[in-house]
Amino acid sequence: MKFKTQLLLASILIGLASPLATFAQPVAKGVWLGNEAGAAKTPPMGWNSWNAFRTEVDEDKVMGAAQALVDDGLAKLGYTYVNLDDGWWLKRRQSDGRMIIRTQIFPSATTPDGNTSFRGFTDRLHGMGLKAGLYTDVGHNACSQAFDLHSPNLPEGTAEERQVGLDGHVSQDINLYFSEWGFDYLKVDACGLADYAPDSKLVKDNGYIGLKPEIDRASLNRTDSVKVEKRYAEVAAALKQANPDNDYVFSMCNWGMANVREWGKEVGSSWRTSSDITPNWSSMLHNYDSAAKRALYAGPGHWNDPDILYIGAGDFDADHLTEARTHFTLWAMMSSPLLISYDLRQAPKSLLDIWGNADLITVDQDPAGNQAIVAYDSDDAQILVKTMADHHKVVALFNRTASPTKVSLLARHLKLRGDAPIALTDLWSKAGSTFTAETEIELAPHETRVFSVEGVRELADGVYLSEIPGAINVADDGVREPQLDPTVHRMIDPWASTRSGGSRPQYAGWGGAQADMTPYAQALQIGDHTYDSGIGVLGNSLLQVKNDGYGTFRATVGVDDSTPDRDRAVTFAVYADGKLVAKTPPLKFGDAPRDISAVIAGHKIIELLATHDNAANEQPVVVTWGMARLQK
Ligand code: GAL
Repeated sequence: MKFKTQLLLASILIGLASPLATFAQPVAKGVWLGNEAGAAKTPPMGWNSWNAFRTEVDEDKVMGAAQALVDDGLAKLGYTYVNLDDGWWLKRRQSDGRMIIRTQIFPSATTPDGNTSFRGFTDRLHGMGLKAGLYTDVGHNACSQAFDLHSPNLPEGTAEERQVGLDGHVSQDINLYFSEWGFDYLKVDACGLADYAPDSKLVKDNGYIGLKPEIDRASLNRTDSVKVEKRYAEVAAALKQANPDNDYVFSMCNWGMANVREWGKEVGSSWRTSSDITPNWSSMLHNYDSAAKRALYAGPGHWNDPDILYIGAGDFDADHLTEARTHFTLWAMMSSPLLISYDLRQAPKSLLDIWGNADLITVDQDPAGNQAIVAYDSDDAQILVKTMADHHKVVALFNRTASPTKVSLLARHLKLRGDAPIALTDLWSKAGSTFTAETEIELAPHETRVFSVEGVRELADGVYLSEIPGAINVADDGVREPQLDPTVHRMIDPWASTRSGGSRPQYAGWGGAQADMTPYAQALQIGDHTYDSGIGVLGNSLLQVKNDGYGTFRATVGVDDSTPDRDRAVTFAVYADGKLVAKTPPLKFGDAPRDISAVIAGHKIIELLATHDNAANEQPVVVTWGMARLQK
């Protein structure tokens, strides 16, 4: 994003003959750009204090949760991070800028010299085989200081003392939290960049020092995404420096805003894709939708984060186990972080059994990190398919509605052959069944059924790229002007109610690269030929693919029949470790699909480049890498 904008500016400054500014075409990089720094090779798992306690958190509650993780066997299943969210701080000491802990609620943090320290707290967690997480904000002030004004645990003192966020103190705070206090995980919120406008009532009434918003919660155009990215990148660099052992997780929390879809995967371990989850069905749908079609943007080291689990409350409490299981299943299918946020000191067995579903944890934690793709899509029911590292499939059939429904599962959805038996194992009931070609499955209201699948793969000697989103990094998705994603379920905003004129999520994502469909959710189609498998992306894009020992890349390519721009000619090129290995002539809308293949044996990074000439104000060109696959 940064460099595109700079180019645009440069072309304006040097006064190009044409009044139309142009964007750079991407070039093959030869090196993997997806974030791999940090300890999030698989999605982080653990516990977070926020949904359970908000700012009414204290040491007993957190240690109680930690003990329960161990005693209930959840830690053994992978729930190791114990994350302290908003509410822990007292103030920033002005003599030296050091953050001081609210010892009233964290008595063990008291030190004789008044410095306060979480070292004892993190030592205890580490002694239990757990890891420790802390919360901060990338601006001056935190979210509770705007949204939990009634809280007894807000930072205290002068305006400066109440500036508890990272701004101006990035390396000081990170060294304190990691080197001195021994934390392993940092969640970095962004209210400090969004809610403290200098002339706002909040700032005036509470005597804060304002900060001109860099995130406008109501306007992507008025959000300075480049600046927000820069701030998070600065934190990432400090975290790297403070953690030479690489044992840290960087959880970015700017709620899907500031076009984080585009840059999050190169900066942190995970990024929130939406606003906060609340314990109701509609909110769960909203948060799920915000991540469900972003599979190509996640992978080992960098994950879509649709927010903490809300299992145990409201529509997901012990009286709504169908909904609670659905919530858990969807998060596991999406390779999302799994953070329990419930008072675990008194959890009923029915809920423990949900968080403790070892089969679904295995699905979430699969090392290939292939987020499920949406193989069948509707507002009523969806079929999600996830390819595991050993290439077997897991399928979830999700009933979004309050009525029972029937869903036909086809071998085609699974990319399995329809002429051989397909065995299903239900990952909740553990019951087995078999079908050939097609089967009908009944779903109760709000139910998700999830199965491990064994069958004969359509592509016996390889993988379709749409089966391995975790091995793909969308280095450039060709989106020039970020557009809001219109496909996210829009709930009645729990904060604004119906006063706002309509719920308008600010998540840029429309037009991003997609598995088995175009960026605008159409079937892949070139010159009237449709493709069940493939990658849909815009022109002037660069996709990076990790080659896990395959010998050949093949695809059938062209401008997609659904393209808004029908004039530009697109050249498709394949690079292996930075070297050009195949290229098509320029192809236009309406041209016949064209086969492209390349020998890639021995090469680690394959790059797929689709380029065209360009101009400002151009319509996007939709291109299709049909049947794109790696074969032996
Ligand atoms: C929100 C964030 C929540 C929680 C809260 C704390 O911005 O999305 O997950 O951390 O702040 O105040």
